[in-house]
Amino acid sequence: MKQQEQWTSKLGFILAAAGSAIGLGAIWKFPYIAGQNGGGAFFLLFILFTLFLGLPLLLAEFSIGRTSQKDAIASYKEIAPRTKWHWVGILGMITSFLLLSFYSVIGGWIVAYLYKVITGQLNDLSSTDYADVFGSTISNPGISLLVQFIFMILTILVVARGVQKGIEQASKIMMPVLFLLFILLVIRAVTLDGAMEGITFLLQPDFSKVTSQTVLEAMGQSFFTLSVGVSVMVTYSSYLPKSESLPRAAFSIGGMNIFIVLLAGLAIFPAVFAFGLEPDAGPVLLFQVLPTIFSQLPFGMVFFGAFLLLFLFAALTSAFSMLEIIVSVLSKGDARKRKKWAWIIGLAIFIVGTPSTLSYGLLADYTLFGRTFFDNMDYAVSNVLFPIGSLLIALFVANKMKKSALYEELSHGSSLKKGLFNMWFILLRYVAPLLIIIVMLDVIGVI
Ligand code: PHE
Repeated sequence: MKQQEQWTSKLGFILAAAGSAIGLGAIWKFPYIAGQNGGGAFFLLFILFTLFLGLPLLLAEFSIGRTSQKDAIASYKEIAPRTKWHWVGILGMITSFLLLSFYSVIGGWIVAYLYKVITGQLNDLSSTDYADVFGSTISNPGISLLVQFIFMILTILVVARGVQKGIEQASKIMMPVLFLLFILLVIRAVTLDGAMEGITFLLQPDFSKVTSQTVLEAMGQSFFTLSVGVSVMVTYSSYLPKSESLPRAAFSIGGMNIFIVLLAGLAIFPAVFAFGLEPDAGPVLLFQVLPTIFSQLPFGMVFFGAFLLLFLFAALTSAFSMLEIIVSVLSKGDARKRKKWAWIIGLAIFIVGTPSTLSYGLLADYTLFGRTFFDNMDYAVSNVLFPIGSLLIALFVANKMKKSALYEELSHGSSLKKGLFNMWFILLRYVAPLLIIIVMLDVIGVI
C-alpha cells in the first residue's frame, strides 16, 4: 500500500478544510433558509448551534482522522475494531453522494450565470429581468443539465489528480480574494436606500417566528456549513501531520465560516428590502438578488463576473471534499484507482442528480410532502442525515476513544487548557447527543 498522502503545509490543510466548509451552505443556503425562517432568530440559533455543537463536532472529526491517519471507513475500524462503528463512515459516504447530487445543481447555476455575464447577456437589465432570465435558464432542461455536468466534470478532474496538487494550491489564492469581494459587496448593499430594514431583519431576532422546524433547520444548517457529520473532516485531517494544533484549526475554520455567513446575510438582506424583493423566495433568492446589487456598482458586471468565479470556486472546493471522501475509500492510496473511481462515482452522482436539476423545469409539478424532488433531497440530507451522522460521531468520540489519548491528540502543536478540554468532552458526550435527539423528536411530534 502507498504511503498516506499529506498536506504540504499547515496553511494548505486549513485552506482545504475551510474550502470544504465555506461553500454554498454559507453563501447560497444560509440566506434562503434564514429568509424563510424570519431572519434574526434563525441567525442567532445558527450561531449558537455552530458554537456549541458544530465546532465541538468539527474537532471530534479532526481527532478521529488524525489519530487513525486513515480514510472515512478505516478510521473507525482502526479505533474500534470488530464493531459496527465503521457504518458511520459508510453513512457519511452515502450522505456525501446524495449531497453532491443536488449541490451540483446549484454549482451548475453558477456556471450558467458566469457564461451569461461573460457573453454580456446581463448588461442593462432591470431587477425583474434578472429574475426572468434566471428562471428561464434553470427551467430549460438541456441547459441546466449541461451546466450541472460541467460542474461535475470540474470536480472529477481535480479529485482525480489527488488532494495535494489539486485542492491545496487552488485554495491558497482564491479564498482570500473571495473575502475581499464579499466585503465590497456588503459595503454596497448596506449603503443602499432602505437597507436598514434588511439589517434589522437579519440581526434583530423575532422569536414569534421560531417553530420546532426552525430549530431543526438551524441545527442542520450549522452542520452543513461546517461540513460535519459526514466524515469529510475525518478524511481531510488524516492527511495532517501530528505537529499541527487541531483546536486552532477548528477555531479558525469555525470563525471564517461564521464571518462569511454574516457577510452573505449583510450582502443579501439589505438588498432584498431595498429593491422590494421577497426574503422567502427559496433557493433562487441569491441568484435573483446578486445581479441587482452588482448592477448598482460602477463596472457592476465585471465585479459580478469576478464574484461568480470565486463563488464557483467556493462551491467546487466543497464539492471536491464530498467526492474525495468516497474516492479515498475506494482507491486506498493507489493513484490509478483514484482516477478510475473519481470518474465512476462522479458520473454516477451526476445521473442521480438529474431529477434534482429537472425539479426546476420538467419535474416542477411533481411533489411529495409539498416539496419538489430537489427540496426533498435537500431536506433529507440537511435535516435528517447530517444530524444523525453528527450524533453518531459525537457518541463515537466520547465513548470509543480514550479520554487521555484524545487530550494528547488535541494538545499537539499547542497546549490545550484542561478545563476547555473537559468542556468539549462534556459537550460531545452529553449535550450534543441529547440536543440532537430532542430537536429531531420534537419535529416529528414525539415530544
Ligand atoms: N460545508 C459545505 C458548504 O457549506 C457543504 C459540505 C457539507 C461539504 C459536508 C462537504 C461535506 O457548502
